[in-house]
Amino acid sequence: MTPGKVYLVGAGPGHPELLTVKAAKLLEVGDVIIYDRLVQEEILALTKPSAERIYLGKSVGLHESRQEEIFDVLVRKAREGKIVVRLKGGDPFLFGRGGEEAEYLADHDVPFEVVPGVSSALAAPVSAGIAVTHRDWASAVAIVTGHEANRDQSRLNWSALAGMDTLVFLMAVHTVGRVATELIGHGRDPDTPAAMIQMAFWHGERVVTGTLRTIAADVERAGINPPATLVIGEAVRLREKLKHSRRDLCRRPDMAPHFEPAPVPDQLLRMATAGMGSQVLRFALATSLFDRLEQWQTASELARAMGLNRIGLAEVLECLVSMGLLEGGPDGYRNLELASRYLLENSPQSLKPALLYQAAHLAPLSAVGRYLLNGREDGAHTEVEELQRQSCECLARYAAPFVLEKLDTPPPGPVLLVGWGGNRYRELASGRWPDLSVEVRNPFEANGTRDAAGTIADGSRRYGTVLFSGILSSCQREQFAPALKNASRTLKAGGLLVLHDAFIGAEVPAAPEVLLSALGRHVLHGGSRNWPISRLETELRQVGLAVLRKESIPGGTQLVIAGTP
Ligand SMILES: C[S@@+](CC[C@H](N)C(=O)[O-])C[C@H]1O[C@@H](n2cnc3c(N)ncnc32)[C@H](O)[C@@H]1O
Repeated sequence: MTPGKVYLVGAGPGHPELLTVKAAKLLEVGDVIIYDRLVQEEILALTKPSAERIYLGKSVGLHESRQEEIFDVLVRKAREGKIVVRLKGGDPFLFGRGGEEAEYLADHDVPFEVVPGVSSALAAPVSAGIAVTHRDWASAVAIVTGHEANRDQSRLNWSALAGMDTLVFLMAVHTVGRVATELIGHGRDPDTPAAMIQMAFWHGERVVTGTLRTIAADVERAGINPPATLVIGEAVRLREKLKHSRRDLCRRPDMAPHFEPAPVPDQLLRMATAGMGSQVLRFALATSLFDRLEQWQTASELARAMGLNRIGLAEVLECLVSMGLLEGGPDGYRNLELASRYLLENSPQSLKPALLYQAAHLAPLSAVGRYLLNGREDGAHTEVEELQRQSCECLARYAAPFVLEKLDTPPPGPVLLVGWGGNRYRELASGRWPDLSVEVRNPFEANGTRDAAGTIADGSRRYGTVLFSGILSSCQREQFAPALKNASRTLKAGGLLVLHDAFIGAEVPAAPEVLLSALGRHVLHGGSRNWPISRLETELRQVGLAVLRKESIPGGTQLVIAGTP
């Protein structure tokens, strides 16, 4: 196996246009993207669809354990031969633990490269109209961590810092008072101008100005939250002249947190519109689940506290983990920082209004609620059928690019697609192989016949490929054999039968769509249904076909390609 490589990449202060060209190129090719809470969804949206995205943010107080986990993932994924992009806010070597990660990779003989980024230490002052050096006011600038101000034995030389022209403090929202006291105590003029810049180049950008004497109270009064950068020095005065300059690099004018906030974290929104996903999210929001999970809790503890069925709740929690909204571990489940930031109602980046809007339109809460109260004996609900249909469609749309990636060269045409994701397949295939004809039939759509066999047997046209998309999951078992028989009859000599399905779990972590559609099945049928591959092989043999290839699709589903042996 060719060895992989780890790129420690600076993601800049937040705006996608402030990525370096190299960083953007790496995002397009990276197999694994590891990111933390300073990296925004708009930047993650640049990754290729098949990339594995891993959120490894650090919560306060958990730095050490998280750092070990990060080291481990970097080394493991690189050893699997992957291109690993470790994205860090700003520049990786400025207070970003990039140095430690590079050292660890060097110690473990893992190839790596560091790609610098636009640091917030410089970008945040720019966004506020502050030039950190200026011929008239400032010839030197120091970049300092605010964490040190909280220590009794600070390693900082406060006398030297007090004499510095411009000071830029990172991570100083909670220590700004201590910083100001130290600097004034070491001789800096209390009337020195100061500014705190929150979320530069993000949606929640705000600037608070004052003097060294007043800045702590100003910051507190304004309710400034991290990430924010503190600038102290005469250079701050320039802001008065520059602050009104019109910027291209700002967010859309409609930044208010009404419906359809920006950025739209694409994955969450996709989930919110995916039938069962909207029920699960709505349940989580309606029961303040994210607030309840500020600390680790097991599914049993939580089920007891909420009076819910433990198995059902565990399934819902797993779905939320797969959507990247909760963290799961040996101690149970816990809120994820990034997710809570997006879900907070009063945050300018809040997703909550959008999610609730989608959920209210798509998902009555009752079905999942009843399931969580009663467990699996609850029986069928017609309202869930529509949700399950949406889950299947969503799963197929999610998987379509991976399936086509695996087919690689054009499959023999014409292609008949039976089942879910038809439009997505057609759109992707025509972009890739413009001459390939793709015909789509879905017997399971609303008001459909649900008769897969009949769907295939209605013409004399012969196909080079018949693609079954999710039909094992959707049709009754006894309906599958006739469908297979008709498909084999309609195949040209040497034609292929391609099956993509969640019928058998692949050895990879399950995607949200897979878990959600399994949950949908449980809510609907009160139990799970799987189709063992051995049985599929027997069925294929009976129509003269054999499995030629079997592949796992990211997301936990299987692709089986069969043909004449
Ligand atoms: C752990 S340090 C990482 C700094 C990062 N490596 C860099 O070069 O920007 C995190 C601190 O960077 C600052 N920061 C990061 N992004 C910011 C932004 N968009 N606006 C203002 N400050 C930011 C804040 O002071 C935050 O507490």
